[in-house]
Amino acid sequence: MFETLKPQPADKILALMQKFREDPRSDKIDLGVGVYKNAQGVTPVMRAIKAAEHKLWEEQISKSYVGLVGDPAYSDAMIKLILGDAVERGNIAAAATPGGTGAVRQAFELIKIANPSARVFVSDPTWPNHISILNYLGIETVTYRYFDRSTCGVNFDGMIEDLKTAVKGDVVLLHGCCHNPTGANLNAVQWQEVIDLLNARGVVPMIDIAYQGFGDGLDEDAVGVRMVAAGTPECLIAASCSKNFGIYRERTGLLMMVSNDAASQKLNQGTLAFLNRQNYSFPPDHGARLVTMILNDDALRADWAAELEDVRLGMLGLRQSLADELQRLSGSDRFGFLAQHRGMFSLLGTTPELVEALRAEHGIYMVGDSRMNIAGLNADTIPILAQAIMDAGI
Ligand code: LMR
Repeated sequence: MFETLKPQPADKILALMQKFREDPRSDKIDLGVGVYKNAQGVTPVMRAIKAAEHKLWEEQISKSYVGLVGDPAYSDAMIKLILGDAVERGNIAAAATPGGTGAVRQAFELIKIANPSARVFVSDPTWPNHISILNYLGIETVTYRYFDRSTCGVNFDGMIEDLKTAVKGDVVLLHGCCHNPTGANLNAVQWQEVIDLLNARGVVPMIDIAYQGFGDGLDEDAVGVRMVAAGTPECLIAASCSKNFGIYRERTGLLMMVSNDAASQKLNQGTLAFLNRQNYSFPPDHGARLVTMILNDDALRADWAAELEDVRLGMLGLRQSLADELQRLSGSDRFGFLAQHRGMFSLLGTTPELVEALRAEHGIYMVGDSRMNIAGLNADTIPILAQAIMDAGI
């Protein structure tokens, strides 16, 4: 049977990660995979995570199963972090998942169960794995215009025009903050316009929020997702703790179903439990437990928030320095968007050929669509990157 298998397409982000590892050049620069790195190039374990792990090691007396949707205390803490008081807790069903990708996957499966003919609208561009999973599940994907390559900002008119083609029962996937890969985001007025449009057409929003706290701050980055949760009859929210808690390999995520019909909560909750049981049974607990401990302990939470804020401000500083250096070298403001974008990524808006030239000639690795991970930079590499961008004629 195995002889029938065909090679599967490589994920372009993970393939790039491998290519970087194999490159012998000592001055190579990794702006590929979305993993935060400090100025020393290290992805640190956050202080609060270390402290919570220490406490857990001392206090945990059992590793028996927790529950099919994880510990309700984890859901409660995460719902509060993401949605604040935007929606009544009783209107939300939630399940712990293996990472944000697990939440995305479960959400897509749920869409398939609820409406097998639903189409999922994704931004052009979006995180490539969104499209890959949708294709794998046989769900029709439609792209909507999002990024304007001439301004490196959001093409909002194009987005609205394309979303007008969605019909009742379709789903529109939106990035909660820190859009991946572009770094260009909606403002509150634009979020409201999208909400009004989706409501008018009976279209269900799904939000992927993987970088809360990396853009403008923990609450500021949740503005859009809170508006959607409060302002639409129902929505799906897939959240990740990989980045803002730095627990990538612990696979810690949450899927939420928000409905303004509280009576449906029990059915929704049961559906999430069923989906977990079919796919992997009990979700991983370790990362979720650490997150719960941190969010429910004033001192740990304050320390975590402070470290996250340092990370955020560090990335903003890198953005500004790169924009300044490019302005100095080019004598123009055309790279000013780098300081306006938010989150870990910015799309330079250049061609795959020039991205390849940066890799071949300068050992600078960014994803082929010209997405760069700003956190992969430091004070030493910013001038090198800026000069390489100039040399390549970008
Ligand atoms: C990324 O976009 O680089 C991250 O979300 C990592 C991944 O799994 O692709």
